[in-house]
Amino acid sequence: MASGLGAPLLLAVWAALEVAGFLEVEMAGKTQVVFLNDDVTIYCKIPGSPLLDSSIMGVMWFRKIQGSAMEARLFEYYGDHQAAFRPGASVPLELLERGDASLRLPAIQLREAGEYRCEVVVTPQKAEGVIQVEVVASPAGKVTLDQAPTKENRYVRVVCKSAGFYPESINVTWEKWTQKAPQHLQISEGIFTGPPVKNEDGTFNVTSYLMLKSPVEADGAIYQCVVGHISLHTSQRFSLPAIETAESATGNVFGNNFYSILVATAVIGLIF
Ligand SMILES: *[C@@H]1O[C@H](CO)[C@@H](O)[C@H](O)[C@H]1NC(C)=O
Ligand SMILES: *[C@@H]1O[C@H](CO)[C@@H](O)[C@H](O)[C@H]1NC(C)=O
Repeated sequence: MASGLGAPLLLAVWAALEVAGFLEVEMAGKTQVVFLNDDVTIYCKIPGSPLLDSSIMGVMWFRKIQGSAMEARLFEYYGDHQAAFRPGASVPLELLERGDASLRLPAIQLREAGEYRCEVVVTPQKAEGVIQVEVVASPAGKVTLDQAPTKENRYVRVVCKSAGFYPESINVTWEKWTQKAPQHLQISEGIFTGPPVKNEDGTFNVTSYLMLKSPVEADGAIYQCVVGHISLHTSQRFSLPAIETAESATGNVFGNNFYSILVATAVIGLIF
């Protein structure tokens, strides 16, 4: 009686082992962050793999379609068949034979972010791995003086522009460095930061303004725009080039301070 149940059970266990097998693949963690327009490699590797025969192997790559349960097929290889449904997608065969089924994607775009799945077959075994791919873009920034100070202008406007970043969330702050207190002081007044504007490629720009009295509180202070974004390891800092006040240009009492601003800018330049 027991043997009547035992045989199918054993068969089922064996079949499960056969399908799931001992084959497994490793991804680069739960999430892989890549940069917009980079040629990227989405990892999927058989750990400790011996040299394999690619003629008994297959690999398929999919990306989940956003807001749907469906997947788009990106690449497939099996037997002597190979197809890239995403232009330029590839899995080099010489790497596949060493157990590396990683997908190469040239010039990745923002819309290609999402869940990727690799399916690897080494007949008769099969394994799959899933990973979230995030596409980010770092801001390109610069600080400029909107309006050169003149005798008539009591204020100057400093402009900090960050362009081409993704995702939208960004922090722009302003700091002041003086020789008297050699640490940075966060500025809280006279700042206006506009809302991020969207570019055609899906990235964003933001502009922040700092109003300063003219002649710029010429105590050898350096003004910096500090930009924090998820794509950056450390904040970007942009220093305002030395402001040439109307007075310093004609070489009067501000001449000395103008010189110290230049020196301080050079020192800051060395630190960063
Ligand atoms: C964003 O900044 C770039 C570089 O300065 C500029 O070419 C582009 O026109 C800006 N986009 C928008 C929407 O203002
Ligand atoms: C912006 O600053 C806040 C507060 O310091 C921080 O929690 C957040 O992670 C920052 N965001 C970015 C995108 O750097």
